[in-house]
Parts: sequence; structure tokens; C-alpha cells
Amino acid sequence: MHPETEKGLITSVPIPLALIAACNEDRVIGYRQKIPWRSAKDFRFFRAMTEGSICWMGKNTFLSLPKLLPNRFHVVFSRTPKELWLADWVGRYSVEKGEGPLKVAKDEIESHVTVVDGLAQAIRVTQKKAQEVPGFSSDIVYCIGGAELYRQFLAFSRWIVLTRIKTGPIAGDAFFPDFSGHAQWNLLMQHYDFDEQSKLSLEFNLYYNKELTTSQDSQSILNRFQKALGFEVLA
Ligand SMILES: NC(=O)c1ccc[n+]([C@@H]2O[C@H](COP(=O)([O-])OP(=O)(O)OC[C@H]3O[C@@H](n4cnc5c(N)ncnc54)[C@H](OP(=O)(O)O)[C@@H]3O)[C@@H](O)[C@H]2O)c1
Repeated sequence: MHPETEKGLITSVPIPLALIAACNEDRVIGYRQKIPWRSAKDFRFFRAMTEGSICWMGKNTFLSLPKLLPNRFHVVFSRTPKELWLADWVGRYSVEKGEGPLKVAKDEIESHVTVVDGLAQAIRVTQKKAQEVPGFSSDIVYCIGGAELYRQFLAFSRWIVLTRIKTGPIAGDAFFPDFSGHAQWNLLMQHYDFDEQSKLSLEFNLYYNKELTTSQDSQSILNRFQKALGFEVLA
């Protein structure tokens, strides 16, 4: 599916986009607006991969976050005016932080969140932020979900960072797209692990899209992937 813009259909995106997700054997990523498992190990991996980056996400994914992701810039996709949904979330977040006045959370929102109405605006905002905000890396921009965004941006992404988690059969209403038959996706690295705390087996995968990038141009995300998994990486 191709995302629409004011000008029609976009066929390429000038952004080094990586989809990052965790799914189970049946590609479930969510149920009733929550991730239906808890794996601290995968969460730490997600944080290590995305810290210091610009993250694209759909409105539902943003609303499912209990708080802002520290040290990340949130580009939130929504066609609904933000006045209709953002204040409620900010209110909940302020309570969570134990901060009575909404002001602190509001200031934080203004410096860490931008709402965009589609892909064209997301590209503009991302290119501007990458120049403006010191410390924010623009060599990889992550799309952190949910199902709607993964589906729309799969074809434009250079990389997929996918943790497959063995949960067995569980209820799900949000899924990662099936890309198993897409010949452009090449596996660059795979690593198996076990989360002692949750007793879940994890399979970390990094794929590159050979129509949009090469394994040589994937060195930066590969280094990050290895570091996030705890491997020593020579700079
Ligand atoms: N396991 C994982 O790795 C993972 C990661 C992230 C999320 N999740 C799960 O995924 C589920 C949420 O996924 P979802 O598909 O329901 O929602 P989503 O993709 O997070 O958000 C969908 C919303 O984004 C907006 N949107 C989508 N495409 C747009 C576009 N091209 N332009 C402008 N706005 C656009 C729309 O908001 P408006 O209706 O306001 O227009 C749409 O309703 C939850 O269960 C969550 O827990 C799992």
C-alpha cells in the first residue's frame, strides 16, 4: 500500500528508515492497544537501538506509551486535530509523573513531539529536526509502529529490526506485515537469546532491503544492532 500525499502517490522516501518491532510466531504485535507480553530484555534492546534517534509512530502507538521515550524525538502520524486527543494523554502523563500542573509535561511535549498529517510532512519535519536538534542522529530514522504504519512504510524502509518472540498462541488484533515472500529483504544478522525473567525465547533479526540499500551501507545499523545485543564492536 502506498501512502498518499497532497501530490498523489509517493514511490520513494529520502529518509533512511528502519522498521523496528517485536512480534510472535503469528506476527502478533498488539492486542487491545497493548503489547501482549513483557520482555525486559527486548525492551532494553529497543532502547539501545533507538536512543538519540527520531522515531516515527502512529497515533495509537503514541497513545499506548505510558510516557515519552527518553532521548528520542517523536514524530506522531494523525489526521485528527491534535487538540482532540493530545491533552488527555498529557494529563495522564502528568499524573503519572506526580506533577500536578500540566505545564511541565506540556513543555516536554513541545520539545519532543511533533504531530504530522502524513508522509510528506513527516519527511519535512524529520529533515528539519535532524539539522536543528544537536545530538539527534539522522543516519537512521526508526518507525516504531504500529500495524498501520508498518504496513504503509514497509516498501520504503531500508531495514527491518525484528525481534521474534516465542509466546505460543495468544490473542492479537495488530500484526506485523508478512514480508516472507518479498525477495528484496535479506537477512544481515540473526541472534538467539533467552529472557530469563519472562522465560521467553527471543530471536533478534536485522534485514536490509536490497532494492534500497546494500550490506556495506548497512554497517552503521549493523554496529548498533551488535552493540544493542551486547557484542563488542570495533569502531
Ligand atoms: N510489538 C511491537 O513492536 C509494537 C510496536 C508498536 C505498536 N504496537 C501495537 O500496535 C497496536 C497499534 O497499531 P495500530 O495499527 O492500531 O495503530 P498505529 O499504526 O499506531 O496508529 C494508527 C493511526 O495513525 C494515524 N495514521 C496512520 N497512517 C497515517 C498517515 N499516513 N497519515 C496520517 N496519519 C496516519 C491514524 O490516526 P488518526 O485516526 O488520528 O488519523 C491512525 O488511526 C497497539 O496494540 C500497540 O501496542 C506493537
